[in-house]
Amino acid sequence: MSESLGTLKRSHYLTQVNEDLAGQTVTVMGWVNKRRSLGQIMFIDLRDRTGLLQIRFNELSAPELFQKAAGARGEYVLAVRGTVALRAEKDINRDMETGKVEIDAQELRILSDAETPPFNVWDEGVANDLRLKHRYLDLRRPSLQKSLFFRHRLAQTVRGFYTEEGFIEVETPILTKSTPEGARDYLVPSRVHPGEFYALPQSPQQFKQLLMISGFDRYFQIAKCFRDEDLRADRQPEFTQIDVEMSFVDVGDVLGMAERLFARIFKDMMGIELSAPFERLTYKEAMERFGSDKPDTRFGMEIADVSAIVRGGGFSMFDSALESGGSVRGINAAGAADFTRKQTDALADLAKTHKAKGLATIALHEGGEVKSSLSKFFADDKLREIAQAFGAKPGDLILLCADAANDIVLEALGALRVDLAKKLELTRPDDYKLLFVTEFPLLEWSEDDQRFYAKHHPFTSPMDEDLDKLESDPGACRAKAYDLVMNGFELGGGSIRIHRKDVQERMFRALGFTNDQMARRFGYFIDAFKYGTPPHGGIAFGFDRIAMLLTHSESLRDVVAFPKVKDASCPMTNSPDIVDDAQLAELGIAVRNKH
Ligand code: AMO
Repeated sequence: MSESLGTLKRSHYLTQVNEDLAGQTVTVMGWVNKRRSLGQIMFIDLRDRTGLLQIRFNELSAPELFQKAAGARGEYVLAVRGTVALRAEKDINRDMETGKVEIDAQELRILSDAETPPFNVWDEGVANDLRLKHRYLDLRRPSLQKSLFFRHRLAQTVRGFYTEEGFIEVETPILTKSTPEGARDYLVPSRVHPGEFYALPQSPQQFKQLLMISGFDRYFQIAKCFRDEDLRADRQPEFTQIDVEMSFVDVGDVLGMAERLFARIFKDMMGIELSAPFERLTYKEAMERFGSDKPDTRFGMEIADVSAIVRGGGFSMFDSALESGGSVRGINAAGAADFTRKQTDALADLAKTHKAKGLATIALHEGGEVKSSLSKFFADDKLREIAQAFGAKPGDLILLCADAANDIVLEALGALRVDLAKKLELTRPDDYKLLFVTEFPLLEWSEDDQRFYAKHHPFTSPMDEDLDKLESDPGACRAKAYDLVMNGFELGGGSIRIHRKDVQERMFRALGFTNDQMARRFGYFIDAFKYGTPPHGGIAFGFDRIAMLLTHSESLRDVVAFPKVKDASCPMTNSPDIVDDAQLAELGIAVRNKH
């Protein structure tokens, strides 16, 4: 049974109804959150996007209305006209924003009935598959409603900021050609050109650079990007970037603008004044101190190198690592001396997942006793000397890692550092530490393919002082590339681009491509550079990630209206899905392996 609105017009959202309106007639609309009867009085808590309001039905004064209300169940959609009444002191509900008032119903229309939902929509809970299958219901819960409103305001703030700074928003194509951001492309077959495919953009990278060549000087876009990569809590296959490009700039200009954007976001969205400039760490420093290119600097636990202290100590794992040019480094887990064997084994297992061969421990117990997996090789005094290098105190636990490859040592310790911070509860989500990591390596060597890949993308400029190394020592060449990092998350990344044709050609050669190969793949792009290209650079921020961190959410699912699940599918629409043979035939496509 569903009625029409008739002549009823909503006068207020639910939480707009307050004491000031006492005695006035209002018309409200929303969903039945809960209904309960107290003899001849019945209450319905109505819910809309602003919150809840209690409606009161009285059997004695309005028996027909009472009967009608008795038929309304959870999630029915109602329109109610009635008088705003102040609640008696003893009936005030302090947990409800509108708890001091209620509406005495005079007219009720049941606009829609509803089946019993598969879960209690007003219960907060994780967005599991059942909730995602009925995401339109899941989205009714208050925290998700809040998240999407937050997201909307964030977009307004970003647009306002860039507009004031003289940027223009330009939409770039979704049906396009492969962009080299390092993930797999999503492909879209062409009907008109059988056997040919568009790629969905992994980012608007080339287009924004072309807009600089066109002379727009300052571009931004809140842009949809698509990457076929493994999902994680902070990764979705389609996501949104705040994409930015500027002409006639160097690294400092782009980072300065980013700082101002985040100062505005924090002020407008969180009421927090960020102190600028943000800390700047080179990639090398970030790796050596924190074992990560996206360090969480809300806590210390910095990595220290103890190679000089342990050298020649007779422990073969350390000695062989050092003889092969590697290092022995560690961290101090303050207050963790009492970790059980099981707990330290779990830490060693974590180190091993990062390719470390093992983990040595030194526990300084409160009574002065030293317990260590290295006791066979090092006397207590030596162990204390090692611990001293970390400024360790009684109650602390030192964790040491050795390898011939320094990267392995640093990455393993970096992972342990993050894991321990969780276990030792060293961080608060409302503590925000933003920093830039700069001077990333330009290239990354792939053992599998025996060639270099661009760490950022092939249009990233080498640092001027490293240009000469592009041929002589490509692996040591640093880039004018940077990331914005907050609390251990990469919030953004970008670079100053190569705008000189000769440097671009040298970069392609370093990547193992001939000019012909590059011309075939990026010909249109390379051509454009011939016609007057300003020096330019930019950055892109993960819009969803910013929303996730600022709403203290655990996952991007909590800030994306219709997210995908782990296997990149959507439980609600059941996409991806098979299509009709006729559609495939039209595209000239035959599916080889149906699962
Ligand atoms: P990059 O690849 O570093 O740079 O991406 C920029 C930022 O986008 C976010 N991000 C993601 N968010 C959610 N799900 C994903 N799968 C995902 N992948 C990336 C991250 C990241 O820091 N074109 C360059 C930018 C430039 O050079 O200007 C680019 O896309 O927060």
